[in-house]
Parts: sequence; structure tokens; C-alpha cells
Amino acid sequence: MMDKIVLGIETSCDETSMAIIKNDQLIAHYTTSSADVQSRYGGVVPEVASRYHMKNIHHVFNEVLKEANLKPENISYIVYTANPGLPGCLHIGATFAKTLASVTKAQLVPVNHLYGHLFSAYIESGKPLFPLLGLVASGGHTSIYYAKDYEDIVVINETQDDAIGEVYDKVARLVGWTYPGGPVIDKNYDETQATIQFLEGMPATARFSYSGLKTAVINYVHNKKQHQEEINPIQIASSFQKYAIHDIMKKVNYTISQNPDIKCIALGGGVSANRLLRQKMQELALEQVDIPLLKYTGDQAAMIAHYGNKLIEQKEKQNA
Ligand code: KG4
Ligand code: ZN
Repeated sequence: MMDKIVLGIETSCDETSMAIIKNDQLIAHYTTSSADVQSRYGGVVPEVASRYHMKNIHHVFNEVLKEANLKPENISYIVYTANPGLPGCLHIGATFAKTLASVTKAQLVPVNHLYGHLFSAYIESGKPLFPLLGLVASGGHTSIYYAKDYEDIVVINETQDDAIGEVYDKVARLVGWTYPGGPVIDKNYDETQATIQFLEGMPATARFSYSGLKTAVINYVHNKKQHQEEINPIQIASSFQKYAIHDIMKKVNYTISQNPDIKCIALGGGVSANRLLRQKMQELALEQVDIPLLKYTGDQAAMIAHYGNKLIEQKEKQNA
């Protein structure tokens, strides 16, 4: 039988990444990022991100093929991030995928970036138990999903305004730390210093919403500066993180209580690298709690190839 070679392409934000799955095994993965450049601007500048994808995409393709010891014509499927993401960045990945498909006759599989994150705990090992609840916490999204299988996925809660990762980045910037803000807040977190109450707690039944929290931190910092008082970055960042993670977990617990058929919960997205969030998720009383390896928490193509491969498998079973 011919080998099933699945190429994954991810270009939705500041990572240009490709991965190859050969007969259901991840065999190659290569990522470049413009995050260092973006940190000079304090956040992602879409035009800069697009330019980096343009500059790097061929190099990434050559590297991933070299690592897999394959040629373009060996590829059977091309899975690419179709949405959501920065339009200019998505465009570059999609155009590359479509051009490659027309030359190689590989089949195109456009996928949702967030579903890549949703199943990123299973890239190297393990299996989801359906129906599954998934929390995807990233720079652009804070969502809880209910998945009956790899395709039948509904959103149960989704942020009404700012995503959690975006607020991590904003709070870090406010206290003078670099982009991306999540890792630096995570590293400096000290529970004993989480003493500022920015807001009253939101009910567990509410939709995710972090713009109020963001505004409260902004007002606190501005107020201090106006009175020429020193700010304490660790105190601010720790207080913010304690509130934010507590709020997420409250909503996760409420959703679990509303969906007693659930046996499994999966975590994903850039913010799933967060130590406090990982610890709180591990403590959930569920049969199976699945947390991605750190290398698969941020944006990368392994999750895109993996998710696409699962869709292909599911279609093959349906057609058998
Ligand atoms: O999933 P991702 O790489 O990109 C999007 O699809 O948005 O998520 C990026 C976000 C950034 O906001 C970054 O600050 C946050 O993930 N992040 C973290 C941590 N590592 C990255 N947030 C909290 N704790 C972390 N350790
Ligand atoms: Zn992402």
C-alpha cells in the first residue's frame, strides 16, 4: 500500500510552520516565528507577520521535506489553516497549499485553527474520549467546545470581547514587560503577591469576557501613575493572573456540571502553557484530563496536520 503522507501548514499569525505525518506518525516538524521581531512593536503587526510568511514559507517547506526525507510528489494530503487568523497571513498559507496541490495532485483539506488547538494534547499519543469538552485559550480566543467527534463540534462558551491571551499581553505591556506577555506573567507569578482585587468575581454562568478586567488593570496603573506612585509589576501581574485563571476554571467547572455525559476534557491554545491553568485543569475530577506537551501549546503545524489526519481518517471510515 502507498504511504499516506499528510502535510500540515500553519500561517495564521506569527508562526510559519509545517509538519508531516506519515501513516499516522508525526515524522517532521519545522517552525519559524516573527515573534521576536513583533516584540519590538509590543504586539503582532499584521503586515510584518505577512512579510515574514512570504520570506520564510519556501524555506520551511524545504526543511520539513528534508527532515522527512520526502519529495513534494509523495504528499497525499495538504492540510492548511483556513481560518481564523490574520487575513493576509492566512492568504499566504492557503495560496501556497493550493498551488502545491495543483502541481502535486495532493488533496486539499482546509481546517479551523482552533480545532487544531482543541486536539493538540493527542499529537504524539493518547486518544480523546467523546463526547469531549475542550477549552481553547489563546491570543485570539477563549472558548469551550463540546465535541461528539472530530467534526461535530459546537461552541458552548466564547469570549464576548477580549481573549484571555490578548489581555495577558496587554497587562504585561502595562507593567513594562515584553511581548508575548503570557510567558513572562506565568514566570513571575507569585500567589502571595496576588493581593489586588481588580473586579468583583463574575458568575460561573456568564460568557467569557475580559475587557472589564483589562480596563480595571489599566485604570489601576493610570491612577498610580497620576499620583506619582510606584507600581509593583509582580503584584499587578499576579493579581491579574489569579483572577483570570479562577474565572476560567469557574466556567469550566460549571460547564462540566451542565454536561454530565462528558468523560474527558482537553486543553489547548497558547495560554495552555500556563502553569497555574495546567495545574488547575489537572485537579479536575474527571476520568480523563488531557493537556498538550508544552511544544504544542502555541501555534504550530503539528496540530494542523494531526487534526487534518483525524478528519481524513474519519472520512475514510465513513466511506468504507
Ligand atoms: O495559540 P497562540 O500561540 O496564538 C493564537 O492563536 O492566538 O496563543 C498566543 C497567546 C499569547 O497571548 C501569549 O501571551 C499566550 O498565548 N501565552 C501564555 C503563555 N504562553 C503563551 N499565556 C499565559 N501563560 C503562558 N505561559
Ligand atoms: Zn493559535
